[in-house]
Amino acid sequence: MEILIRSTPAEVAVEAADIFAHYANAGATLGLATGSTPVAMYKELITRHERGEVSFARSRAFLLDEYIGLERTHEQSYYSTIRREFTSHVGFDDDLVKSPAGDSDDPATAAATYDKAIRDAGGVDIQLLGIGANGHVGFNEPSSSLQSRTRIKTLHPQTVQDNARFFDNEDEVPRHVLTQGLGTISEARHLLLLATGSNKASAVHAMVEGPLSAHCPASILQWHQRATVILDEAAASQLEDREYYVFADKHRPHRPLFS
Ligand code: PGA
Repeated sequence: MEILIRSTPAEVAVEAADIFAHYANAGATLGLATGSTPVAMYKELITRHERGEVSFARSRAFLLDEYIGLERTHEQSYYSTIRREFTSHVGFDDDLVKSPAGDSDDPATAAATYDKAIRDAGGVDIQLLGIGANGHVGFNEPSSSLQSRTRIKTLHPQTVQDNARFFDNEDEVPRHVLTQGLGTISEARHLLLLATGSNKASAVHAMVEGPLSAHCPASILQWHQRATVILDEAAASQLEDREYYVFADKHRPHRPLFS
């Protein structure tokens, strides 16, 4: 893993936008994520798009996950959220922004169809990820199979609690979701995980320095051949080998991002 530690969430957003813009300009297939963490990076990319520095005209996108049971027009569906927060502001062809059909009458089939659509499109070039306070990625909660495919998951009570801020009350948070599996996510050619804030410090420590374990689904990044983790100081605060990561970052060999 490349571990990049930056002083502030704003610096994390700029560093992440540098990487993402490179892929977008090359016409890559982008894996998008919702949640609070990537919003600053999306804002940075919108600004760069307005300045003519980044184009999404040749890209397509796949979203990580979706609630089951919300109409896609519901303001908290991830279908709506990603459009409101990002893709509608950067000239993305709306038909090329895909997400699992959480409003389907047959979510299990919708999950399999989505997994196949990603493969049929040639896979994801760069997958953006956040991390839950409990170590989840996408909605792969602790105990998720490390080889899982897109499927139905039940949210962990901690995730229901964490996401209640987006709804009027906790009871309105759907209990079930469709999420790309850990096996699906692992097939993306580059994983880019962002984490900011001290409430992520323990999960980040488990992801980077703990064992590869279904108990911390984000630890699959250890098994991936191209994973970049960008942290602010607060999220990095429990890392034991912090000095080494800073040293390795400073002496990072140049590697082409995407060609
Ligand atoms: P957050 O969520 O960015 O809103 O903290 C991340 C996640 O749960 O994966």
